[in-house]
Amino acid sequence: MNIIFLGPPGAGKGTQSKRLEARYGIAQISTGDMLRAEVKAGSEIGQEAKTLMDAGKLVPDSMIVSMLEKRIQQPDCAKGFILDGFPRTVGQAEALDEVLARLKSQIDVVLVLQVDEDALADRIAGRFSCAKCGASYNDVSKPTKVPDTCDVCGSHDFVRRADDNRETVASRLASYRKETMPLLPYYEKKVKVAFIDGMAPIEDVSSQIDTIMQEVEQITQK
Ligand code: AP5
Repeated sequence: MNIIFLGPPGAGKGTQSKRLEARYGIAQISTGDMLRAEVKAGSEIGQEAKTLMDAGKLVPDSMIVSMLEKRIQQPDCAKGFILDGFPRTVGQAEALDEVLARLKSQIDVVLVLQVDEDALADRIAGRFSCAKCGASYNDVSKPTKVPDTCDVCGSHDFVRRADDNRETVASRLASYRKETMPLLPYYEKKVKVAFIDGMAPIEDVSSQIDTIMQEVEQITQK
């Protein structure tokens, strides 16, 4: 099963795709996480990407497509993958179609998280994660159970993303509207596109996704 998650910054793509990965045993692929790993490693790609990411702009299609092409051929993608943050432009979607055609594979469903834009800046400003194990939290919707202590590994070290500030969110939203929203009509012509109420509590969003996944599984097993 191959899934694409679409939605503006802070919509809950990462939160829900990690849950899907755990439930269905298919690999979550976040191009944002891949780029942040390159930035951390100080690679050439990372240095070029950092300036763009910090400004809330997209990195060039050529940079991201080749990374993605290699990633979906890793052994952990044998049962399928969840694309979190890719594609983000029609050019990326066309390139993905070409790669999947070569690999004799396809996208089974596009999940679209619909959210009220006014809520996104607050969600993003509240997001933080454990510096040791990466578990993610939110000041408002998902605080740690014990103050300043990671629920998963007990660490007291937390980090916030460099692009998680209100100024950059506006630019990320503008990129989403201009570059990524045209993917909706692109995919509606080709594949099942399912819309999800991303303003519901996290558990309710997961339940909506479960229902859609059951429908898609029935179709793909026929
Ligand atoms: P990326 O890392 O993909 O960031 P994004 O798309 O801006 O999305 P976010 O990670 O901010 O949000 P999310 O939807 O995953 O929300 P989350 O689940 O964390 O990309 C970063 C940058 O990398 C881009 O700006 C670009 O520069 C570059 N890039 C990446 N991919 C690229 C590509 N393909 N092409 C070009 N450039 C690329 O949730 C957010 C918060 O809200 C969390 O704290 C969470 O706990 C909380 N939350 C989630 N769901 C709910 C809910 N239902 N109710 C209340 N709170 C909730």
